[in-house]
Amino acid sequence: MKEKILDLIKSSGDEYISGQYISEKLGVSRTAIWKYINALKEDGYIIESISKRGYKLLSSPDVLTFKEVKEYLHTKYIGNKIIHFHSIDSTNKKAKELASLGEDNGTVIISEEQIGGKGRLGRSWISPKYKGIWLSIILTPDIEPLEVPKTTQIAAAAVCSALREMDVEGFIKWPNDIIVESKKVCGILTEMSGELNRVNYVVVGIGINANLDIDDFSEDIKNTATSLKIQLNKNICRKTLTARVLNNFEELYDDFLSKGDISKSLDICRKYSIVLDREVRIINRNEEYIAKAVDIDDQGRLIIENKDGNIYPIISGEISIRGLNGYI
Ligand code: BTN
Repeated sequence: MKEKILDLIKSSGDEYISGQYISEKLGVSRTAIWKYINALKEDGYIIESISKRGYKLLSSPDVLTFKEVKEYLHTKYIGNKIIHFHSIDSTNKKAKELASLGEDNGTVIISEEQIGGKGRLGRSWISPKYKGIWLSIILTPDIEPLEVPKTTQIAAAAVCSALREMDVEGFIKWPNDIIVESKKVCGILTEMSGELNRVNYVVVGIGINANLDIDDFSEDIKNTATSLKIQLNKNICRKTLTARVLNNFEELYDDFLSKGDISKSLDICRKYSIVLDREVRIINRNEEYIAKAVDIDDQGRLIIENKDGNIYPIISGEISIRGLNGYI
């Protein structure tokens, strides 16, 4: 009922909507409406109430609930359900828990803060409250486990496109980082549960440093990480960016499921790649070497040319790019 009342107040825009109208439309008493309005105020909605005129929404809270994101979403199933937390250890961890209990394909877990945010290779991920987009998408695809890493590239393409729709020059550092002005603004952590030849579920975790300030970053990553706010000198709207990412993700993911290849995502990954035609340092388990990134093949593998002129693909691992200030 609270959601329905909010929808009505939102739909009346700058006009006041009377308690009588809401009461007749939704079949609830005026007293009940008043209680729901108070509950909405507690959620951070600023609602003006004037006797004989009714209610008007003055502002909505900057939170990534379904109520707030849905008006920008155009998806069929990704984000149809958003499970929202104000604080959690890790959205990926929660998503895996829920997925193993049978949560629906396309459900998205979002938290305003993570106190145990996880990065790749066992690292932690700084996720301060109300400043970033910390989300995990639950997927239950009927694909081979070997194909799962492709969802990372789909997500990278979705985020990079979303940034470009907002006039931000994002680049993709193969396979899973988004870079703005040579610094990382987004990381993707894909996890899965499955057997040798079957996938139970996939969790695609996306962390976007939207409105973090420089002091939010720890000393060790200050030189290599940044936020959109720092780069653009203004706060960005987390709701629209979240919806854009999910809209793009669904489009690219559906394309993959229907065609069986990620050519559409790879076109984006190649076009906005920050590694192609550059010298990269490849860090793989115990070895580390320099090579040139020459292509991304149709499987999403990075094709490199080593110093002896040998050309071969790499599937995973970590790479850094030689930039003006060393490697990023
Ligand atoms: C990386 O670049 O190392 C990957 C970072 C992934 C961070 C996101 S934030 C939302 C989701 N929940 C997590 O605990 N991690 C991912």
